[in-house]
Amino acid sequence: MLKIGMLTSGGDCQGLNAALRGVAKTLYNELGDKVTIYGIRDGYRGLIEGDYHEMLPEDFSDILTVGGTILGTSRQPFKEMRKTIEDSEETKLDKMLHTVKKAGFDCLVILGGNGTHKTANLLSMKGVNVVTLPKTIDNDLWGTELTFGFQSAIDIASTVIDSIHSTAFSHSRVFIVEVMGHKAGWLTLYAGIASGADVIVIPEIPYSAKKIAAAIEKRAKAGKRFSIIAVAEGAISQDEAKLSKKEFKAAREAMTYPSISYRIADELKELTGQEIRVTIPGHYQRGGAPCPADRVLTSRFGVAAAQLITQKKFGYMVALQDNHIVPVPLTEVAGKLKTVPPDGELVKQARALGLSMGD
Ligand code: F6P
Repeated sequence: MLKIGMLTSGGDCQGLNAALRGVAKTLYNELGDKVTIYGIRDGYRGLIEGDYHEMLPEDFSDILTVGGTILGTSRQPFKEMRKTIEDSEETKLDKMLHTVKKAGFDCLVILGGNGTHKTANLLSMKGVNVVTLPKTIDNDLWGTELTFGFQSAIDIASTVIDSIHSTAFSHSRVFIVEVMGHKAGWLTLYAGIASGADVIVIPEIPYSAKKIAAAIEKRAKAGKRFSIIAVAEGAISQDEAKLSKKEFKAAREAMTYPSISYRIADELKELTGQEIRVTIPGHYQRGGAPCPADRVLTSRFGVAAAQLITQKKFGYMVALQDNHIVPVPLTEVAGKLKTVPPDGELVKQARALGLSMGD
C-alpha cells in the first residue's frame, strides 16, 4: 500500500483543486486500492502539527472548476508562521519529519510557489520523497514557463482593465490599475498587453514618473480621451533602484501611501495637473474558477506528478518547457526567482506596439 500525503501551501490560486484532482485520479487509475491519499490541512501547518486525514476517490470529484483549495493553505512556515509557532526552524522541520514518519507517508505531493519550494527542498534533502507542482498567479517560479493560476489571473486582471476602458473614456480620465505579482511583472505585462493598457510599469523596469507623464501627454495631444496605466504592485522608481536593499526597505517603510499606485498617482497629478484614479482588484485576481487553459495545465501537471510517483522518481517539480511537461530537480528550483527579462522578447514586442514601459 502506497501512502501519499498531499498539501497546498502559500497564497492560493485558481487550479489548486484541479491539480489535486489530476494527481489523485491518475494515482487511483494506475494503482487502484493499492494507494491511499491523505489530505494535510492548511499546508505545512498541518504537517508540523500532524493534522491530516484520509481522503476518498469521491473527495476529488466535482472539484475541477472549484476555486481555492479543499485542503486549506497557509504561508510557508519559516517566515510568517514564526509569529504563531515559537519553534526554531530546525524544530519545525523535525516536526514535519516526525509527521511523515508517524503517518508512514511514502511520498509528499506539495503544491506551491517559491517559499513552498524552499521548504519542499529541505524536506527532500532530509530524505523525504517529494514531488511538487508549480502554483502561483505570479508565474515567478524558476524552471517552468508557466505556473498554474497565472493564466486565470491574467483573465481577471485583463477583464478589470477592459472594464476600466469604458469609464475612462466616458470621463476622459487617467486610470491606474494595480496588478498583483509580488516582485515579478509577469502578470502585469501579460494583462497589460491583453487589455491594451497604454503604459505598463513592472518591477524589472524601474519607472520614471516623468516618462509616464510624457506618455499620457503624448496620447492627449494625439486626441485620445483617456490613458490606462497597468502598475505591478512591486513597481519601483528609478531613484529607488539606486538604493541599497536596506535603504530601499527603510524608504518603503516610511512611505505613507497604501500602495505604490497611489504614490505614482500623486506624482502624475503633480506633473500633469490631472486627477488620476486608482483601481486595485487585489485578491479578486486569485479567486474563483480556473480558466480552461489552467484546467488543462493542472491536469497535465497532475498526471505527470502521479507518474513520477509510480516511477519512484522523487525530488522533482513538474514543469512546462517547450510545451512538454518535464521533471525539474527541486535543488534547481528552490530559492530562485524567475523575473521578466527587461530586454526580453515580450517587452520588446510591447514597445513595438507603442506601449510605454514607463522608463
Ligand atoms: O503570491 C501570490 C500573491 O497573490 C502575490 O501576487 C501577492 O503579492 C501576495 O500573494 C499577497 O499575499 P497575501 O495573500 O498574503 O496577502
